[in-house]
Amino acid sequence: QTHEKTATSPVNIAVIKYWGKRDTDLILPTNSSISVTLSKEHLQSKTTIRASPLFEKTRLWLNGIEEINLINNKRIQNCLRETKLLRKDYEEKLGKEIGMDNVLSLSTYNLHICSENNFPTAAGLASSASGFACLVYTLSQLYELPVSATELSKIARQGSGSACRSLFGGFVSWQMGSKRDGSDSQALQIASSDHWPELEALICVISDAKKGTSSTEGMQSTVKTSTLLQHRIDNVVPERMKLMTDSILRKDFSKFAELTMKDSNQFHACCLDTFPPIFYLNDTSRAIISVITEYNDKSGECKAAYTFDAGPNAVIYALKQNIPEIINLIFKFFPPSRENLTFFSDPFKLFSD
Ligand code: DP6
Repeated sequence: QTHEKTATSPVNIAVIKYWGKRDTDLILPTNSSISVTLSKEHLQSKTTIRASPLFEKTRLWLNGIEEINLINNKRIQNCLRETKLLRKDYEEKLGKEIGMDNVLSLSTYNLHICSENNFPTAAGLASSASGFACLVYTLSQLYELPVSATELSKIARQGSGSACRSLFGGFVSWQMGSKRDGSDSQALQIASSDHWPELEALICVISDAKKGTSSTEGMQSTVKTSTLLQHRIDNVVPERMKLMTDSILRKDFSKFAELTMKDSNQFHACCLDTFPPIFYLNDTSRAIISVITEYNDKSGECKAAYTFDAGPNAVIYALKQNIPEIINLIFKFFPPSRENLTFFSDPFKLFSD
């Protein structure tokens, strides 16, 4: 009577940042964004879901701790409701084809959901992205939904915006869309990971402490108070989306790096332009920016790109042949013994789906 599915989902790191919602219920963004999906066994979310007619209610555990207020957790409820609706449609369709008696009414069963991340949950390492992507993906597997990753991205988006980009490997765009019901706000794959296998990522964990301002709160405070954000939305991101897509398709690292760093800088400038201001970068983050800037200046071209999300941790993108040099450089400035910087010193390859 019990049905069970387990699945894992990867982390994605944006190179054109999502920051701001035009609809906070449906999670519709104020600009499109682009990310790279990272592969590595230990940087992922893993979800197991059981469905049984014997379960009295739906329950969820995140990293071993039960979410007691599940019924009021809108984001999780959105994902559960939307996938259940698809399952119900699918059951009706199957019922017509093979007879209702032969169809499992899984859509009516309560669920036990167990979700785990093996990395800091709220330190700007995109745990909500892989977590919600994994919830929606595992549900789609359990329910055997005949739908595409892009279709699922519209559901994952309602859990956490950035989650819609974690349903694909390689390079992914989230098209903001223009419809009010969100039906065109979805993720698409720009290229798979084998398109550019030389591209790798280094993650510098400067702090795994929970951040001060969550991205959800921070971005709406920026929407309300920053004038720079509107300029970014109208005049900067649309052009950057095209240039970034083009640099990926042409595998032009120098251009990719320049755009990545500029977009990270502008996102953090919008945070500073928020009133009261939001600071995600700390002294170590800024020192990493200087080290990478100097390295690129000396090289006469961009050979490394830094990017920071809603926390102090740096992600550095570079081509495989330059990674050893960059690791040495960073270790020279920040000896591994320094307490405030640990390092995933193995580069992250890209995730392939
Ligand atoms: C800085 O997706 O965490 O990482 O939609 O409110 O859940 P919600 O926000 P979230 O925001 C991510 C912001 C970012 C940039 C990005 O990933 O594009």
